[in-house]
Amino acid sequence: MVEKITVVGAGNVGATTAQRLAEKELARQVVMVDVVDGVPQGKGLDQWESAPIEGFDSRVIGSNDYAASAGSDIVVVTAGIARKPGMSRDDLLNTNAGIVKQVSEQIKATSPNAIVIMVSNPLDVMAYVALKVTGFPRQRVIGMAGVLDTARYRSFLAEALDVSVRDIQAMVLGGHGDTMVPLISYTTVSGIPVTQLLDRATLDAIVDRTRTGGAEIVKYLKTGSAYYAPSAAAVQMCEAIVLDQKRVLPCAAWLDGEYGMRGLFLGVPCKLGKGGIEKILEVELTSAERDALAKSGEAVREPMKVVGL
Ligand code: NAI
Ligand code: 2OP
Repeated sequence: MVEKITVVGAGNVGATTAQRLAEKELARQVVMVDVVDGVPQGKGLDQWESAPIEGFDSRVIGSNDYAASAGSDIVVVTAGIARKPGMSRDDLLNTNAGIVKQVSEQIKATSPNAIVIMVSNPLDVMAYVALKVTGFPRQRVIGMAGVLDTARYRSFLAEALDVSVRDIQAMVLGGHGDTMVPLISYTTVSGIPVTQLLDRATLDAIVDRTRTGGAEIVKYLKTGSAYYAPSAAAVQMCEAIVLDQKRVLPCAAWLDGEYGMRGLFLGVPCKLGKGGIEKILEVELTSAERDALAKSGEAVREPMKVVGL
């Protein structure tokens, strides 16, 4: 357990993240910060009142003031607007860049030693904004996307194979968008290559569904985007850090030559422990996968230019 984890943004992803963090008792205090008066306070109190039933002692509070979050060990950033039907993640760019800049300045001022887990979209660009504005080392600014995209991929595979999700090992790399790269060559079912169990057409359909997994939920919800699986993903990353688990998880990391790319956030396999990203693992890729990863990197660079940092 760490002393304090802050979740900025008490909306769908933020509030669900705070509740999951508290239920797992990953921090003595879980603080939600949001600009809307009363919302973080009300949700925080409601969550704290669930503690006697769920049996956790993490104290959840909400505030509009970063003073409450000062000295956080981890800050999860979910502030911003979410997608509506017909919108791409990049449509959120200008609004969320302004919000994330302001949030990052506050994090830098009040929690200078924190590890930042970025969730706001467009993810890879918002992680870049946080890195630039906070000036934190790259080990301490991490984007959440690969854990979510991989969970979607694993759940679709488990359904197609009628096996437990626990037995699907996989990794989705690249940017958090339509160019993401589910790695079929590293997908196994308890060590058995998935290509021995599913035909190519079925696998391709699952890869396509994974790439549009976020849009599939937006289409159903109409007024917003997914939050149960995204919050579970952010909390798995927090857990790896708090418990120094050395988990190998796909995270958006600032590349400095890894996979032949430099100066951008992109989803790659990372070892997560108490220092944040403790190592980026460079694995062998097929030439098609390497090309797809490079193409995904190009797609991330375009919107980076727009934020002008
Ligand atoms: P939401 O609309 O339910 O909540 C966003 C919250 O941010 C609101 O409560 C709003 O008041 C707050 N907010 C706005 N400006 C703020 C500021 N300056 N400081 C503090 N709080 C502020 O949206 P939801 O569904 O929670 O999504 C949040 C973000 O996460 C969106 O950008 C969404 O696209 C992104 N997302 C990213 C995922 C990923 O895989 N990386 C997955 C799911 C969502
Ligand atoms: C998702 O993938 C909207 O990025 C969000 O659900």
